[in-house]
Amino acid sequence: MEAEALQKPFDIVIFGASGFTGKYVIREALKFLNVPSSPLKTLALAGRNPDKLAQSLRWASRPSDPPQLPIIKADVADPSSLSSLFRQTKLVLNCVGPFRLYGEPVVAACVDAGADYLDISGEPEFMEKMEIFYHDKASGVGSLVISACGFDSVPAELGVMFNSRQWVGASAPNQMQAYLSLESDKRIVGNFGTFESAVLGVSSAGNLQEMRRMRPRRPRPVIPGPPPSKGSTIEHQKQLGLWALKLPSSDAIVVRRTLASLTEHPHGLPGYNERDDHVEKRKSFWSAVKPAHFGVKIGTKSLFGILKIILTGISIGLFGLTAFGRRLVLKYPEFFTGGMFRKTGPTEEEVNSATFKMWFVAQGYGDVGVASSGSKPDTEIVTRVSGPEIGYITTPIILVQCALTLLGERANLPKGGVYPPGIVFGPTDLQQRLQQNDKELDDCLLSYYLTHLGKTAGILYQSRWHYVVTQISSYFHWHLEKELIYLDSSLSFH
Ligand SMILES: NC(=O)c1ccc[n+]([C@@H]2O[C@H](COP(=O)([O-])OP(=O)(O)OC[C@H]3O[C@@H](n4cnc5c(N)ncnc54)[C@H](OP(=O)(O)O)[C@@H]3O)[C@@H](O)[C@H]2O)c1
Repeated sequence: MEAEALQKPFDIVIFGASGFTGKYVIREALKFLNVPSSPLKTLALAGRNPDKLAQSLRWASRPSDPPQLPIIKADVADPSSLSSLFRQTKLVLNCVGPFRLYGEPVVAACVDAGADYLDISGEPEFMEKMEIFYHDKASGVGSLVISACGFDSVPAELGVMFNSRQWVGASAPNQMQAYLSLESDKRIVGNFGTFESAVLGVSSAGNLQEMRRMRPRRPRPVIPGPPPSKGSTIEHQKQLGLWALKLPSSDAIVVRRTLASLTEHPHGLPGYNERDDHVEKRKSFWSAVKPAHFGVKIGTKSLFGILKIILTGISIGLFGLTAFGRRLVLKYPEFFTGGMFRKTGPTEEEVNSATFKMWFVAQGYGDVGVASSGSKPDTEIVTRVSGPEIGYITTPIILVQCALTLLGERANLPKGGVYPPGIVFGPTDLQQRLQQNDKELDDCLLSYYLTHLGKTAGILYQSRWHYVVTQISSYFHWHLEKELIYLDSSLSFH
């Protein structure tokens, strides 16, 4: 496999590089092209319109002149154009969506060509379909196919693993609820591509259920204690100061797939030519991950914000059900979403001013032995992942860092197969890469915040480059905002 890979002229092809997200992905990839420590030495751009690709490259290179990169025409509707392109590359970064419409021929051609594949899909039906139809072949030919390598769903996957690894000794989580909060002093806007993917997702929700019914059930992880109750539709999360509502994103589904893989392979997935030290690292990483019931909610500071999200959800849900309704909402996305999605996408200013925080509130048992006696969870651990704007900054950063991890650590990863990102990248240095990204990207790191509520309360805050840990001996009932200020102002504390 390595000998073949060496003969390929490109390390990475960005497919769909002319799209709204694609151009941001080019910009991110250029930062690592031909940098001495980077495994990315050769990069090509591909899509159906070479002029648009060249325009995206000019945009992504500003203020410098664009570098000389191969620009290759390839169209999803012409599978031979995909096959000949993918035979020339080690790795394809697929930014062509909606994935349910355009994704399968790309995966099929990658697997045929024996190339590795990452994408930024947030569409569970597409991901599960690829797993069903291409896993065996991809495993055989040595093509690693990993969807959801963007904001969907790497922060959720890393966030769940990070929180679950804080439950040390006899303690164990039972349930983990993520609260996503999007913040900006400008409008928070998504591009049409994401909106179209969401609308089409509503219309084919039944297909996903049908597909699952036809598959053999995968093993479920053993989680101590009873499953959590459903709770109210709108939750007032007082600790975080958020009104919250279930978010029908792909995160919980992707995390569940990773936990199912982990149940099947308790030591994780062996690399095809793994170094001994990595075998140890992988085993010790996964032995510390304790599964929990997981869900995601979107949170806003005001009840009005949640009501706006509900109205948008109802309008997409209702109109998405019929062909006429879909045509209507897809024609006027701004009107039907109260400005949350725009045909022209967000402005650069809007992108640059947005950030996200994702809190992971986990409840479980200080001593897992009491779980079987029917006791209620007695311990809570809260962690946080945060970063810049989700769609066009965080997503390209994550996709490119997944790509660099894959190129740099290929022998430590499975030979091939279709997997969610967590089970493949969990024991790699992806989390560190995202935290350290690069010095210009101080605002682009994912920072982690952790606090325990329990008998021995402790606070651990991971700042940009180092940990600050304080141990406090008495029960610590906290107000979150206050604690953050306290922690932020005590970075020199050890
Ligand atoms: N995971 C996340 O958090 C996240 C974040 C951002 C985006 N996304 C997803 O990424 C996808 C793209 O979003 P976007 O906003 O970038 O959409 P977009 O601006 O519409 O871009 C779509 C891209 O697909 C290309 N394309 C369409 N049909 C094609 C075909 N037949 N052959 C080759 N290329 C074709 C387009 O080429 P042309 O330029 O020639 O039209 C364009 O490059 C969506 O599914 C979205 O949900 C996910």
